[in-house]
Amino acid sequence: MSYLWDVSNTISYNNRMGKYKFNFEYGFINKFLIPNSKILDVGGGSGRFAIPIHNLGYEITVLDNNKEALDILSNKNSQIQTVHCNFMEYKSDLKYDIILAIEVLIYINDWDLFFSKIDNLLNNNGRFIFSTINTHSWRFFLRKLYHRFNDHSYFKYHSLEDINSFLSKYTLKVETVEGFYWLPFKLNSNNLLIEFFIYIEKLLKLKKYISQSPWLMISIIKNT
Ligand SMILES: C[S@@+](CC[C@H](N)C(=O)[O-])C[C@H]1O[C@@H](n2cnc3c(N)ncnc32)[C@H](O)[C@@H]1O
Repeated sequence: MSYLWDVSNTISYNNRMGKYKFNFEYGFINKFLIPNSKILDVGGGSGRFAIPIHNLGYEITVLDNNKEALDILSNKNSQIQTVHCNFMEYKSDLKYDIILAIEVLIYINDWDLFFSKIDNLLNNNGRFIFSTINTHSWRFFLRKLYHRFNDHSYFKYHSLEDINSFLSKYTLKVETVEGFYWLPFKLNSNNLLIEFFIYIEKLLKLKKYISQSPWLMISIIKNT
């Protein structure tokens, strides 16, 4: 299997850090699942979230521009509907109650186009739930120093202020923000101390320190 972002891949998610991130992201999403919600998972890959959400009884569609990811998902669960396309070119008259985009926004160049599509696809009182890297955090500062020597400029990063200013053009409003990934380990780490740092993160309630949290989970509500 060459799709990097599968839940069974030890380089990405099948390690202690991957499990920590999943638990935090899924826990956040879960707070907003309302019975009978129709859900679209943008950049949903091979179903890291779609499969557990489908197993709870929700109707969820996964859209991704990676065919291999969608084939892996269909092999795991043929009942989940998939759409193979670039979201930036996606056109549909369907509306959704919840749209997810977890660990996807760094790949999106044109946020105006992206958010106008989200706005069009959401039902009134629908929610867009996504994760993003916090450009105001201490970790992003270190990352910028590192990137001076390693060019990763194809990834796009925006602050919460940028997001709020994008949203002012639409009928979308930030509703809830929680911070995570304070742990001093790399994405693919399996370090035994991870459990200890998870305990500290919870004990100090670091998810509330959104100005400095390295990553953010954000829910946005559409209200016309
Ligand atoms: C880091 S993976 C995350 C996958 C999944 N959301 C998860 O958290 O397990 C990013 C995914 O976004 C998809 N993606 C990136 N840009 C996209 C676009 N413009 N349209 C559709 N999918 C996109 C990639 O193919 C990849 O599957």
